[in-house]
Amino acid sequence: MVRILVTGGAGFIGSHIVDMLVEQGYRVLVVDNLSTGKLDNLNPGVEFINLDICSIELIKVVADFQPNAVIHQAAQVSVPVSIEQPADDARINVMGTVNILEACRLVEVKKIIYASSAAVYGEPEYLPVDEKHPIKPMCGYGLSKHTGERYLKLFHDLYGLKFSVLRYANVYGPRQDALGEGGVVSKFVERLQQGFPPVIYGNGQQTRDFVYVKDVASANIAALFSGDNQVLNVSTNEPTSVNKLVNLLKDIAGFSGEAEYMQPRAGDIVHSYLSNKKIKEQLNWRPRWTLELGLKETYKKR
Ligand SMILES: NC(=O)c1ccc[n+]([C@@H]2O[C@H](COP(=O)([O-])OP(=O)(O)OC[C@H]3O[C@@H](n4cnc5c(N)ncnc54)[C@H](O)[C@@H]3O)[C@@H](O)[C@H]2O)c1
Repeated sequence: MVRILVTGGAGFIGSHIVDMLVEQGYRVLVVDNLSTGKLDNLNPGVEFINLDICSIELIKVVADFQPNAVIHQAAQVSVPVSIEQPADDARINVMGTVNILEACRLVEVKKIIYASSAAVYGEPEYLPVDEKHPIKPMCGYGLSKHTGERYLKLFHDLYGLKFSVLRYANVYGPRQDALGEGGVVSKFVERLQQGFPPVIYGNGQQTRDFVYVKDVASANIAALFSGDNQVLNVSTNEPTSVNKLVNLLKDIAGFSGEAEYMQPRAGDIVHSYLSNKKIKEQLNWRPRWTLELGLKETYKKR
């Protein structure tokens, strides 16, 4: 049986990847310290070890499990935390990633798939943002995610460890946390489910690329077989305004009130969407979920 180690498998995206792997008959080990992940998210068909990815014990865990591949989702994911506590962000996202790479090297794992982010690009210079766009992160998180990417490339060059870097756009779906730095979709859904109007910062004309979590999961699984040593955006290639998003969600919720508009937040990017031409070619992957369907599922299952 093919063995896959998933770090962060109790989190939002990681747990959907795990569900898909289990459904497809893989043997899965999850390593997660439950800092933002939840035991409730964990598929009962997996092995689980509660461990920090920075821990020295990780090497023994990887050696015992002997994974064929590692899917690395665990991270410090909050942009504000990365600005307020950059050392902590770098410890988890850079040192944690290096620790995993070291374990992969020692155990001779064949491939690692790494969750990166559109945050590595910073303010877009052109749209859609493709993988050749300059790297200009505007926060510790974007920089630490990109540094992880660079280490993957280094470990490939030095030791032949294969990798795929997947740079996700704005991921949404069931199990996304609405607390703290949760995605905008989960925050709007939570407000509507409580009978309150969604709160929009700015005029709502800002655009983002919203990709459904199950499409992100299937991209990770496709990367087990192809896209070796490639950097790939995972996106819909479509800009959606925050106003359109809110209107779709209001329809789903049957909410007839108006959204509340607040002052725009300093430093927010106005327009962003990512090209998915390369991942379509490399992984033969495409997003299957329309925004309407994905939002319905999210609303139903939150
Ligand atoms: N959600 C998005 O829109 C988005 C966009 C771009 C990239 N990403 C990336 O996708 C990945 C998953 O993000 P998510 O949205 O599911 O967030 P999440 O917070 O739900 O998942 C992260 C998981 O990692 C675990 N974790 C954190 N630090 C750890 C540590 N030191 N040791 C072990 N486990 C640890 C958490 O407990 C959690 O289960 C992250 O790498 C993130 O940077 C997410």
